[in-house]
Amino acid sequence: RTLLKASAVAGAYASGMAFLPRLTSALAAADPLKLEAYRRSAEIDGKAATEGVMSYRLGGDDTADALPPVLRARRGKPFAARFDNRLDEPSTVHWHGLRIDNAVDGVPFLTQPYVYPGDGFDYAFTPPDAGTFWYHPHCNTLEQIGRGLAGMFIVEDPDDPVFDAEVALNLRDWRLGGNSQFIEQFKARDAAKTGTFGTVRTANWQIEPSYDAPAGGLVRLRILVSDVTRIYNLKMVGAEALIAAIDGQPVPRPILLDMAVVAPGQRLDLVVRMPETEGETAALEDIRPSTPKVVARLRSVGPSLKRSLGDVAPLAPNAPVEADLSDATPVPLVLSATAEEAAKDSICGSLGYSFWAINKVPYPGDSSDPMAPLVEMKLGKTYLFNLENVTPHAHPIHIHGMNFKVISSSRGPVSPLVSDTYLVLPDEKVQLAVVADNPGDWVLHCHIIEHQKTGMTSYVRVV
Ligand code: C2O
Ligand code: CU
Repeated sequence: RTLLKASAVAGAYASGMAFLPRLTSALAAADPLKLEAYRRSAEIDGKAATEGVMSYRLGGDDTADALPPVLRARRGKPFAARFDNRLDEPSTVHWHGLRIDNAVDGVPFLTQPYVYPGDGFDYAFTPPDAGTFWYHPHCNTLEQIGRGLAGMFIVEDPDDPVFDAEVALNLRDWRLGGNSQFIEQFKARDAAKTGTFGTVRTANWQIEPSYDAPAGGLVRLRILVSDVTRIYNLKMVGAEALIAAIDGQPVPRPILLDMAVVAPGQRLDLVVRMPETEGETAALEDIRPSTPKVVARLRSVGPSLKRSLGDVAPLAPNAPVEADLSDATPVPLVLSATAEEAAKDSICGSLGYSFWAINKVPYPGDSSDPMAPLVEMKLGKTYLFNLENVTPHAHPIHIHGMNFKVISSSRGPVSPLVSDTYLVLPDEKVQLAVVADNPGDWVLHCHIIEHQKTGMTSYVRVV
C-alpha cells in the first residue's frame, strides 16, 4: 500500500514533505456536507463480500470506500451536514464527545424525531473542543453500528503541533459466519455478561492493515474503538509512543505508552516515533485476552527524518472543566444487574431483554414518553456523579453534551482526566465532576451496546 493510498483511507499531514498531502477533503466548507447512510456490500474478512453492510458516504459518491469517511472540522468554526437516510429503517446521527447543542445531539425522542427512510435532517454546530471524536446512529444501535455505521470525527486546532504523518484507525469487530455473512448480533446470555464479541477483528474494516509513514518520523495515530463490545488493551510493539490525548482531550504532558485500556466509545491519540530503517514495522497490538493480536501496522519508508519523541509538544489544550467542588451536589449512580421484566419492543430497536439498570431502573428503550430524568441539574452548577459498579463486569459510561472530570476512584489515585466516557471497572466506585453547562436532556449510558440496549441507560436534564 502506498503512502497516498494510506492517506486516502487514513489521512496524512504535511510537514514540508511534498509527498504527504494534507487531507482536508471532508473539511466542512460553507456548504453543508451531504452525509448519507446506506446499505452496501463490502469485503470484510478477506474471503467474500458481506451483504447488508451499513455505511456512510459523502454526497451519493458511488465510488466511496466502504469505510465511513473521516470527517473534519475546526475548533470554533461552524460545521454543517445534511444527513440523508437511505437505509430501510429509521436512524439519526449522534456526534460522540462533541459538546454541542441538544437539538443536534441525535437521540430519538429526547432530542429529535426519527429520521425515516428517505428523509433527512440538518445538523449544524460549532465544535468547542479540538480532538478525536466520532459519529454514529442512536437508533437500533446494536444492528446499525454492528453493521458498520461509525466514523471518526476530527476537530482540528490550528495551534496543534504538526506531525510528519497522521493515521486514523477505527477499531471494531464483525459478527460474521464462515460464509462471510452476518450472524445474529448478540446472544442473550452474553448480553447479560460482557456483551457478545465479534468473530472478525478489523482496523479501518481491514484485517491487520499496514500504513506507510516516514522512517524516523513522528506519526499522530488517532485510535477510535467503535466496537459494540470489545475493550482493548493496546500496546505499541517495535516503536516508542507517547499518549497525547485521551478521549479527544489532550493530556497536559504527553506520557510514554506502556499499555492503554480503550473501551467502546473511547479514543486514544498517540504520537509514534517510526522505526529508523526503511521497511521496518511497528505494530499496534491488543494484548487482551491473552494472545497478542496485531491490530494494525506502521511501516517506515524513505530516509530517516531522525525525529525524537523528546521534541513532541503537548497538543493545544481544550477549555478546562471548571468544577466547583465546594458547592457540588452529589448524584448517586448505581450500576447494577436487574431481573426486571423485559423492555418493550420499539421500532428503534429494544433487544427484548432487561439485564441492567441505573439506580435500579432499567431504561425502557426509546419512547415518546420517557421516564423522568435521573437528576435535574441547574445550569452552571457542579454535580458530583458518584458511580458505583456493583456488577462483576466493566462498563464504559458515556454522557452526552458535557464532559466530566475524574475526581477519585476506589481503585487508587487518579489523574484529573477530562472525558466523555469513563470505564467503570467491576466493583469500582468513582467520582466524576460534571459542570451543568449545556441545557437540555442528555443521555448517559454504557457504551457496550448490549448493556445500553438492555437497561443501562438513563438521562439527565440541565435547565
Ligand atoms: Cu457514542 Cu450515546 O453514544
Ligand atoms: Cu456496560
